[in-house]
Amino acid sequence: MSTRPIGIFDSGYGGLTILKELVRQLPEYDYLYLGDNARAPYGNKDFETVYAYTLQAVQWLFDQGCSLVILACNTASAKALRTIQQNDLPNIDPQKRVLGVIRPSAEMIGNYSNTGHVGVLGTIGTTLSQSYPIEIAKFFPAIKVTQEACPEWVAIVENNTIDTPYANTIIQKHISAILKEDLQIDTLLLACTHYPLLIEKIQEHTPINIKIISQGSIVAKSLKDYLARHASIESKCAKNGNRRFFTTGDVQDFNSHASVFFGGELHAEKAIL
Ligand code: DGL
Repeated sequence: MSTRPIGIFDSGYGGLTILKELVRQLPEYDYLYLGDNARAPYGNKDFETVYAYTLQAVQWLFDQGCSLVILACNTASAKALRTIQQNDLPNIDPQKRVLGVIRPSAEMIGNYSNTGHVGVLGTIGTTLSQSYPIEIAKFFPAIKVTQEACPEWVAIVENNTIDTPYANTIIQKHISAILKEDLQIDTLLLACTHYPLLIEKIQEHTPINIKIISQGSIVAKSLKDYLARHASIESKCAKNGNRRFFTTGDVQDFNSHASVFFGGELHAEKAIL
């Protein structure tokens, strides 16, 4: 029987919002989570840095036995996925696979909007890369995409300052900016996996008629379809329901924050990349 877990990578806690849905929709698989908390945030780092860090993380997950890795991070998906898939994987091991979160979200987002006007909230790296407007146009050419970078939001999650007046002000600032830029937006995509951890605050500042879409369930559904279509990859994934958590940061900090975000007690291990 296979012992290979599915690797889930994020710069920090954000990927837990993806893992939570994967565990809900695909509970039978083993998952190995890696958060690069020591080097988060990635959103304001340049292309070369995000690519180098992401490649290190992917290589580390392969070394732990993963043959399928999900970049549960939009910034890494925007800046590193294509290069890793096209340039690195053929040399590392052509049998291994790395998938991201942007394409599955772009494939689905147009189905949520009635007005055809969608807002994308992400990091500076994700929005500057233009990955979302480009990918969404492939599936929904008529959709108008407006982007807003929310650089402070990841730090609010990583530093656990969610319940502060500062967080309130900053969240309100970006929501009202994007809704002012296009008055017809009826759908907001949380295009950073950290943002669903702020969902209650985001909802407080968003009119009730505007849909707020998190990526977790979209990515889980997409992975389910992918595994159904790729039997040779699926057969390598272990199915014992095991979950292991690794962080490059402080293990105690990770355990206390991640257990709040993920639900249930966690016992993370230290990862040295
Ligand atoms: N959660 C990640 C994303 O989806 C990265 C956030 C960051 O490290 O800046 O973009």
